[in-house]
Amino acid sequence: MLSLAHALESQLRAAIDRAFPEASASARVSGTGLDPQLAPASKPEFGDFQANAALPLAKPLKQPPRQIAAAIVDQLMVDTAFNAICLAPDIAGPGFINLTVRPECLAAEVQARLADARLGVPLVEADNDGQQPTPVVVDFSSPNIAKEMHVGHLRSTIIGDSLARVLEFRGHPVLRLNHVGDWGTQFGMLITHLKQVAPEALETADAVDLGDLVVFYRQAKQRFDDDEVFQTTSREEVVKLQGGDPLSLKAWGLLCEQSRREFQKIYDRLDVRLNERGESFYNVYLESVVEDLNVSGLLVSDDGAQCVFLEGVTGKDGKPLPVIVQKSDGGFNYATTDLAAIRYRFAAPPQGDGARRVIYVTDAGQANHFAGVFQVAQRAGWIPDAGRLQHVPFGLVQGEDGKKLKTRAGDTVRLRELLDEAVERAEADLRRRLQEEGRVEQDSFIEQVATTVGLAAVKYADLSQNRITNYQFSFDRMLALQGNTAPYLLYAVVRIAGIARKGGDLDVTTAELQFSETQEWALVRELLKFDAVIAEVEEELLPNRLCTYLFELSQVFNRFYDQVPVLKAEQPSRSCRLALCRLTADTLKLGLSLLGIPTLERM
Ligand code: ARG
Repeated sequence: MLSLAHALESQLRAAIDRAFPEASASARVSGTGLDPQLAPASKPEFGDFQANAALPLAKPLKQPPRQIAAAIVDQLMVDTAFNAICLAPDIAGPGFINLTVRPECLAAEVQARLADARLGVPLVEADNDGQQPTPVVVDFSSPNIAKEMHVGHLRSTIIGDSLARVLEFRGHPVLRLNHVGDWGTQFGMLITHLKQVAPEALETADAVDLGDLVVFYRQAKQRFDDDEVFQTTSREEVVKLQGGDPLSLKAWGLLCEQSRREFQKIYDRLDVRLNERGESFYNVYLESVVEDLNVSGLLVSDDGAQCVFLEGVTGKDGKPLPVIVQKSDGGFNYATTDLAAIRYRFAAPPQGDGARRVIYVTDAGQANHFAGVFQVAQRAGWIPDAGRLQHVPFGLVQGEDGKKLKTRAGDTVRLRELLDEAVERAEADLRRRLQEEGRVEQDSFIEQVATTVGLAAVKYADLSQNRITNYQFSFDRMLALQGNTAPYLLYAVVRIAGIARKGGDLDVTTAELQFSETQEWALVRELLKFDAVIAEVEEELLPNRLCTYLFELSQVFNRFYDQVPVLKAEQPSRSCRLALCRLTADTLKLGLSLLGIPTLERM
């Protein structure tokens, strides 16, 4: 109902202008005019919207707010466009103006959505509010080569993918970037180890399967810690690699390739698309980043290290904290690479990505890092006027005991095994249910349902939390058929598909929609919130808002379907109710697809 809300907003502004021309004129001089303070109604019995403008106006106008509200309502009532949308407004409490959209307008909105694959969500180009498609970079997943891709990276992958999907659906050009950690001193020991244990790998393509790189990493690290000669060779290897030695580069490439293959298996299973552009990509830009900072007068030499001191960020001693961009040994670090990345992402093509919004999805532990580099980039002048840099932080993934997630044996959890277990448990649940219901299904069906439900459960559990809080990973909770879970939502879609199988024609487009029951209106109003929810997720980057909405929609639908006859209803009610079922299924499917979750017809 965003378009209705926009129309009401401007009608309210005009009404306020007419009711209080002087106050309006002076508000326009100082800013944007008087804000009608339009918001969704706080309770359904108050209608659809409320305008709260009268309260803050009381003081400047020296009038009681109810009197102000009455004057605004008088003006609204002479506006034919307003009367076409709303019933006569009520004034409630201290002076809230409650607005109820005409039933025929709500029905017309439902009608329009039944014929609109976008379900009322405008494409940015088509939006006449002056919104433009914004080239966005979403930097997410970003595991480190040869190290474990852990649950934190899984969270980043799932949240980042969903945000990218929402932005893409709105019509923004999105560049999904995997900023993998593929550069750094750890490669010294990895390459040294590789050259010693598998020299043949460097000569013949695919000669050796490096196997589990995590084990490989551990072995190299062990030797690095125990063996001084190995340490020295590793350090020399770093220098060689940075100097572009062909053999070192080849070894580095092999290690990256091996990791990449492992990561890709996870992305494929989760149906996540990513473009790899790791830290190494920015190597050639690091020196010029430091040089740029120097030219801007931001660089300070501190004990041999090149730093930028932050404004407004101080340490325990009260002194400004630095972002170190070049260490005293001449080496660059994580922050330097991120600065180079920011400069590149905002720079105009072909020297850059031409982004106008750059979003980073990482754990909240990196908040200070990003605040620091964002500030430096800002002061260096690398962020264009309309450019936005946003860190999207999330909390830790914990076990049910509230501690770091571990396997029963106490090891770190492998993502592959975690996804396997989700699917296995979903399969066991399904087989139990089939047995209870006396249903016989083919193995292919069971496999497909278990895979969809298991992976959906993992994704949804992650997305449905407010991402900032830590989240407790529980297979039992995420796979439950009741509550705010993927299975509950998937089941609502299945239920509607079942209506069609029982002979309900869901392809209703022609009937003139009429509703009479409370549960019908409740469902209509819930369905029409979808576009506003998407707009909110796009702005606030909180996928859990979409989850909450889809959950509430499923609940409202289930209440409707339990209490109001559909297939057994008389015409025209039957068609009108089937139309609501159709739109509910469409909304759930589209909403879930924006979370990266496919749906099922049967489960
Ligand atoms: N590789 C980092 C990690 O594993 C995340 C990188 C996030 N992106 C960035 N541009 N810094 O924590």
